[in-house]
Amino acid sequence: MLNQKTIEIIKSTVPVLEKHGETITTRFYQLMFGNHPELLNIFNHANQKQGRQQKALAGTVYAAAMYIDNLEAILPVVKQIAHKHRSLGIKPEHYPIVGKHLLLAIKDVLGDAATDEIIEAWAEAYNVIADAFIGVETEMYDEAARQQGGWDGLRHFIVDRKVVESDVITSFYLKPEDNYGIASFLPGQYISINLEIDGEEYTHIRQYSLSDAPGKDYYRISVKREAGTANPDGMVSNYLHDGVNEGDILKVSAPAGDFVLNTEKNTPVVLLSGGVGLTPMMSMLKTVVEMQPERKVTFIHAAANGNVHALREEVEELSRLDHVTSYIFYDSPTEEDRRNNRFDVEGYVTRDWLKDKIATRETDFYFCGPVPFMKAINRSLKDLGVKEERIHFEFFGPKGSLEV
Ligand code: HEM
Repeated sequence: MLNQKTIEIIKSTVPVLEKHGETITTRFYQLMFGNHPELLNIFNHANQKQGRQQKALAGTVYAAAMYIDNLEAILPVVKQIAHKHRSLGIKPEHYPIVGKHLLLAIKDVLGDAATDEIIEAWAEAYNVIADAFIGVETEMYDEAARQQGGWDGLRHFIVDRKVVESDVITSFYLKPEDNYGIASFLPGQYISINLEIDGEEYTHIRQYSLSDAPGKDYYRISVKREAGTANPDGMVSNYLHDGVNEGDILKVSAPAGDFVLNTEKNTPVVLLSGGVGLTPMMSMLKTVVEMQPERKVTFIHAAANGNVHALREEVEELSRLDHVTSYIFYDSPTEEDRRNNRFDVEGYVTRDWLKDKIATRETDFYFCGPVPFMKAINRSLKDLGVKEERIHFEFFGPKGSLEV
């Protein structure tokens, strides 16, 4: 337990952290990777390059500093990050490394302003925060191992089938090499894939949402080919598309993530997706169809056009069921899309359209897609008076804010 003096020091440094937060975390990564280059096997190089991880960490440090005497209040955030950490294989022994370099960075950036008293207070506070993470993550590892068909590290999966779904999205059906069962998962969860790419010094780990319902003897992921092999996200997705084939082995961590469909509820549910954001939504849609045949579900998908629209036949087939409705939005339809009536609406999903077509009372909304799409949907739902507790969303990449 921290004493009052330490708590006061921590809280009084929040404005300083706010001012220097990103500089400190940027410096922290430089120092840490300098001393521990092996950690580059775990961290996402794309997020590092774009500064996304710096922001995510800085944000969490502020939150922790603000709530240092009441960490319970940020437990949901801790849990969400812990899911990611567990899926990446972060262990208790990693925490002192991060702590040491965070303190070094604070000292480096703040110079004399970071007195011994401040540094000591932060050392204590970091340990408290780290213990909170370690506690939650230890439970998650135990849970992952205990589950039927579960495991707590990496397991070898064979690419059983590789199916091209659109010009940019390809699905991979993964079955365990050991042929034992696989853990179930909650619709919306993801797995991490560890890739050793020829010519690359470090391992790349990426998370991909599971795009089929649970309860099969395989996991399915549907991966978008990102543009440009020079960008690290592009390099990994292009490698999966071009370099990984049926019969190949991938190293996979057990399903994780807290963006999940609440199947305890029977209220109408609207699943909205933009582009490859449809993957967790597909899992949710198929789960409602398989487990909640009484539940009204509306599937709204926005894509540029038919060439990049994945899994359309699957949704079409499910939409024949009475309790399933689907709408397709294309913002740049092709002539062929027009000729074949392949979409319902030309343009974007707008507030007015939602107001017209969707009964918002009692409805739960889940959405995932590019950030501008998510911002627009979030804003529209709020304008339409949808309560916060019925709005659920997932960012691909470190969590950010949807406020505009
Ligand atoms: C991800 C915070 C400790 C490795 C994250 C994220 C946050 C965070 C906010 C982003 C979560 C998201 O993507 O939604 C923290 C805090 C820590 C801590 C507050 C200490 C108390 C560690 C440790 C390691 C680690 C000890 C391992 C050395 C990672 C990695 C990611 C991550 C590899 C994913 C990064 C990416 O894919 O770009 N962490 N973390 N973290 N964390 Fe931590």
